[in-house]
Amino acid sequence: MAVEKVKENVKEVLERYGYNSARMIEILQDLQDIYSYLPKEVLEEVANTLELPLARVYHIATFFRAFSLLPRGKHVVQVCTGTACHVKGAYRVLERLSDVLGIPAGKTTKDLQFTLETVNCVGACALGPLVIVDDKYYGHMTPSKVDSLIEEYRE
Ligand code: FES
Repeated sequence: MAVEKVKENVKEVLERYGYNSARMIEILQDLQDIYSYLPKEVLEEVANTLELPLARVYHIATFFRAFSLLPRGKHVVQVCTGTACHVKGAYRVLERLSDVLGIPAGKTTKDLQFTLETVNCVGACALGPLVIVDDKYYGHMTPSKVDSLIEEYRE
């Protein structure tokens, strides 16, 4: 990872928030938008610039599920495993997604195209079983619909 580019990106984001460490969540969110995860070098640069212990920045980055310290795929596929979706067969959908993508939940494909995750109820229970790809909702999913869904996103 190019050090100069990291410094430039971090500086730009920190400036946006007035170098205010109380806005760390927004800072990390914006940096994650750039890299699609939070690389170690980025967290170090944030800590150095704000003169904070690195452990504190890591603590926030690991506390919130929305942040990832590992590279994520270009597309994030999330399966809701809340009670309503579970009852309607979410785990069968998850199993099929896992087979098609060749990875278990929580992992990213080697070509960095897809990350597979589970999420708790997102409040759209009537659509269950629900799969979310990036920000798009796919309701009433079944294992047999999984292949064509992934094909839509595969490059
Ligand atoms: S349980 Fe899946 S959206 Fe509520």
